[in-house]
Amino acid sequence: MPSTASLRYTLHSRYPGEHLVRSRGNLLRSIEMIAESDPDLGAMRNVAGRTILLAAHPELAREVLTAFPRSLKKGLGLQRTRNVLGNGLLTSEGEFHLRQRRLAQPAFHRERIARYADVMVERTESVAATWHDGQTLDIARAMHQLTLDIVGRTLFNVELEGQAAALGRALTAVLDTFSIWLLLIGDRLYDWPLPKMRRAKRAIPVLDAAIYEIIAQHRQQGEDQGDLLSMLMSARDTEGDGSGMTDQQLRDEVMTLVLAGHETTANALAWTFWYLAQHPEVDARLAEEVRSVCPDRPPAMADLPLLPYTRAVFSESMRLRPPAYATSREVLTPIELGGHTIPVGAQIAVSPWVTHRDPRWWHEPLRFDPDRWLAPRSEPLHKHAYFPFGGGTRLCIGEQFAWTEGILLIASLARHWRFHLTVPADSIRPQPAVTLRPSPGVPVRLERRR
Ligand code: HEM
Repeated sequence: MPSTASLRYTLHSRYPGEHLVRSRGNLLRSIEMIAESDPDLGAMRNVAGRTILLAAHPELAREVLTAFPRSLKKGLGLQRTRNVLGNGLLTSEGEFHLRQRRLAQPAFHRERIARYADVMVERTESVAATWHDGQTLDIARAMHQLTLDIVGRTLFNVELEGQAAALGRALTAVLDTFSIWLLLIGDRLYDWPLPKMRRAKRAIPVLDAAIYEIIAQHRQQGEDQGDLLSMLMSARDTEGDGSGMTDQQLRDEVMTLVLAGHETTANALAWTFWYLAQHPEVDARLAEEVRSVCPDRPPAMADLPLLPYTRAVFSESMRLRPPAYATSREVLTPIELGGHTIPVGAQIAVSPWVTHRDPRWWHEPLRFDPDRWLAPRSEPLHKHAYFPFGGGTRLCIGEQFAWTEGILLIASLARHWRFHLTVPADSIRPQPAVTLRPSPGVPVRLERRR
């Protein structure tokens, strides 16, 4: 654990933004450099002169995520996403957040997820049935469209398939801007006439129109369709004035769930296929496991416990390419962390990207090695060193949804297809926007398994 002397804000950054300059604007590298300054609790000053801490030790990361719900609020990065997500589950705070979380929770219960699992597999099989041997495609884009379609059908009972491409483009335009916001730290940047900002501004009405359309359709149909949106619409504030949610509130929750519910899983899957293409021995073992469990039928929810290697591959992919590579909190009232008093206004980040590749908790951390997840090995060497879904009261509400979707989609596709990269693997880079996207995509050639 860090000693008092190890926290030297000023020594670690000789001038505001030094890390960004030295990492040449590479945000991931910049986060790594904070950890290099102190592997437990590093510190730097960003461009605006703000103190940014990185709680990289698993114990400290856990504390930040779980121990101070009243003293911390979401950090600057997520506060900025309010421009698009409004006051939905990801960004809201306090009592309002707890109420919204309670309302949404039943949509993520086990028996619901079991129902969604059928939709996940059915949609995947139907997309893969349109593919042919030797075809080339961008598997990252295919996964975005597929997971968007799945989230629409499972949570909102709508078919986004036809709009998936247009919505995907609009979402990309919006998401592209977040990395600039994070890097240069300035809300006013949103008003600058940068091409990226103009694209994002044009995209928001496209997203809004699609979401208000979903809400209007539900209102017209009038009856409870048993999905998440129906639940949110029929909710009444029993402790307040008994009113329901306004269209604006519904819009914010739907936008949040559409975005959080597909972008992350799509990227995790795209990276998984990127790894499988580079590790034919892992790919063959995974395909063998899937064939032995479901030789002549698609996989189903009940198969999940029988697919430990597939789960290990997905876990390993999210270890090295965690879609939510970092999140942060802002200090509202001073807290004690690792023997230090952290002042009001400081931003404390936790980063799966950093902690998931720390050699103290992982053997040969940069190696893609799904076996580390299986007996007799027992990694990580610290029980809190793996947190792709966060933790505490802000733990990802979709965690079980994502594990189910990830494993079933991998199994369903790996039954029939092998993926070969058509460009050098290292030309595809992790692009840290809101999530860790493979940039510029993952172009593959399909080979039908015999
Ligand atoms: C591989 C897939 C996913 C990853 C890695 C992931 C990761 C995360 C993380 C790290 C957080 C916490 C952020 C923080 O503490 O600041 C989060 C929150 C959240 N996620 Fe996910 N997520 C995934 C999939 C999903 C899915 C499938 C859904 C919905 C269907 C979803 C909906 C949400 C929501 C609504 C929140 C905010 C929860 C709250 O604060 O109450 N996520 N996610």
